[in-house]
Amino acid sequence: MDINGRAIAQVIRTTLETEIEKNKYTPTLAFFLMEDHAPSRVYVGMKQRACQEVGITSIKEELPVSITEKGLLEKIDNANKDPVIDAIIVQMPLPDHIDSNKIICAIDPIKDVDGFHPLNIGKMMIGDKNALLPCTPHGICKMLEIENISTTGKNVVILGRSLIVGRPLANLLSQKGKDATVTLLHSRSQNLKSHLLNADIVISAIGIPHFVKEDMVKQGAVIIDVGMNHLEGKLVGDVDYTKVKKIASKITPVPGGVGPMTIAMLLQNTLQCHIQRLKSNLSL
Ligand code: GUN
Repeated sequence: MDINGRAIAQVIRTTLETEIEKNKYTPTLAFFLMEDHAPSRVYVGMKQRACQEVGITSIKEELPVSITEKGLLEKIDNANKDPVIDAIIVQMPLPDHIDSNKIICAIDPIKDVDGFHPLNIGKMMIGDKNALLPCTPHGICKMLEIENISTTGKNVVILGRSLIVGRPLANLLSQKGKDATVTLLHSRSQNLKSHLLNADIVISAIGIPHFVKEDMVKQGAVIIDVGMNHLEGKLVGDVDYTKVKKIASKITPVPGGVGPMTIAMLLQNTLQCHIQRLKSNLSL
């Protein structure tokens, strides 16, 4: 059975829209992206449309690939100081001459809507309820919750150790309350198949089209596909969906699964940034 991420995300978006309208909130999200990176353009476009729908103002600045690290740091500094801006996204990836860790650390943690700043990662790790959680892992946790898929005592196998998905997700799912037994697999892992066959829940975020095949998952497993890959002109996930669907109890399609949840969590985080700034009077 499919997990309809689009429908779940829509409920969250409607709730956010109502909350923004009712309280006359004026959240503003600023995007920085590299002008030569086509996928970033597409993703940011989708995020901006979603912002508009719920009443979040978004600002976008496309940067030339020739921008220096210092130049980008200055832009971030200005956005940090700008009282109108509640939340900042520097869309990854960045060109090789820019140290993305330095950029992430330069964003004011209160405006770090991606939840990538070490302070927010630390807050997530200690289970601080006010932490800004990374959008994709947060969206996956929400999706499992809403679908009544318990993670308690379950073998959860995550494919991919990225900072955006795999590592924070492994942390969240192993925390008290989620109580999963998490295995984090990556490009150097051995016996991949035996780990996967042992999984009650498989979450794939490796960016290889159709990597997860039907002989790699156990009957009745839940399959969460984070992949957004292009194959023969089509958007496909990391999972060989048509075949794995026959074995899985529940599976997320691509598109229409995790993607919409990521965007919904971004909107929620933006509102969280706005409210936190209102409370701390920083916007005055
Ligand atoms: N590139 C791909 N996904 C993301 C994301 O969630 N945030 C940022 N900043 N860049 C990305």
